[in-house]
Amino acid sequence: MIDTKQDISWIIRNHDVKNVELASNLFSMKNARTAQKFHSQIPGYKMSPLQGLPHLATMFGVGGIWTKDESSRLELNSFKVLGGSFALYRFLQDKLGILGQDTPFAYLASQEVKDKVGQITFASATDGNHGRGIAWAAQRLGFKCVIYVHSETSSRRIDAIRSNGAKVVVIDGNYDDAVRQIALDAETNGWTIISDTSWDNYTKIPTWIMQGYLTMLVEAQEQFSGQGIVKPTHVFIQAGVGALAASVVGFYHALFGQEAPKCVVIEPDKAPCLFESARINDGKPHTITGSLDTIMAGLACGEPSPIAWEILKEDVDVFVKVPDYIAAKGMRMYATPLKGDPFIISGESGAVTLGAFASIMQEPQLAELCTALGLDGDSQVLFINTEGNTDPVHFRQVIWEGANPVPKEYWINR
Ligand SMILES: Cc1ncc(COP(=O)(O)O)c(C=O)c1O
Repeated sequence: MIDTKQDISWIIRNHDVKNVELASNLFSMKNARTAQKFHSQIPGYKMSPLQGLPHLATMFGVGGIWTKDESSRLELNSFKVLGGSFALYRFLQDKLGILGQDTPFAYLASQEVKDKVGQITFASATDGNHGRGIAWAAQRLGFKCVIYVHSETSSRRIDAIRSNGAKVVVIDGNYDDAVRQIALDAETNGWTIISDTSWDNYTKIPTWIMQGYLTMLVEAQEQFSGQGIVKPTHVFIQAGVGALAASVVGFYHALFGQEAPKCVVIEPDKAPCLFESARINDGKPHTITGSLDTIMAGLACGEPSPIAWEILKEDVDVFVKVPDYIAAKGMRMYATPLKGDPFIISGESGAVTLGAFASIMQEPQLAELCTALGLDGDSQVLFINTEGNTDPVHFRQVIWEGANPVPKEYWINR
């Protein structure tokens, strides 16, 4: 059943017992450590910070607020490079017939590997960050790269992809149209598609991408244990096609089974394909069509990734869709922290989870959702700041010029 209050809608899933089998197969700690081992040998790798926001936690009445801050992962501005680089690694290993072995990054970049695998052009559709990550990894490994973007993609995002050596092609339509077009063109040109979304008979590479994201979560577990915290009690995770959400939700369910943190998936109300799939509730993923016109460019996806949906439909506790001004509010909250809390650069898709959480904690009309989630003084809440200012001009428009303001009737007067 859908509830809607103050432009925010949610669906609570009532699982008596969750099915964690698929999560345990794909997103085990063993798989996570493999990804982390690979990433840790990339030149420039370091753990991204897990930032505590203790003053905000006190203000909102929860035990802790923690943000895994991916805004400068491997000198890029988002977590996305973790998935693309791991998929390229696995793909090359597979081609070399050494899948499952420990292969140094430097070896994959060597001439010997090129002599064995031949010239490969990696290709992908993107709404910005994934393409940039693939371009970066392909360039580091010495392979060609072609990236398709849709016509609404900002010039700043396109420039960022080009600056990593890729050819960028702009196509009419939205992100999903770009995915379809590149699938056709790759066939004609003999390119290898590295897509973060899956389709019929194309699941291996998207699975590797999701497994690549696990590095963040192993790191976070290590960082939590350094704080004496066994696990977060709640995870708020933003979603486009749902690959990131599936790896996060899958990881925690693989690790903690029925005792996993409560997982809340947040989408833009202009592109809520997972929310819609949960609403229809026939077990299948469902598509949203149209321009998907949201400031959360990374989440502007109308078609769920089918393999991601298999996990999400089993293990997510609440699906939420929110308007753009919630993301803008989250960006401003990170950029103007309470005294003593850290300053965090967070872009539109990165900040929406904090914005949504703030509304849930503060808006009297959302109190029933807060209660249903069991958010209280014992809660340790995890967010992932999935991007920094990946579009610096729009970032300033939101933070400096006040773009996408919260409507006055929803201002908090306490
Ligand atoms: C910054 C950012 N956050 C979150 C996501 C969501 O990831 P997914 O499409 O796997 O749901 C994306 C996707 O591109 C992104 O760029």
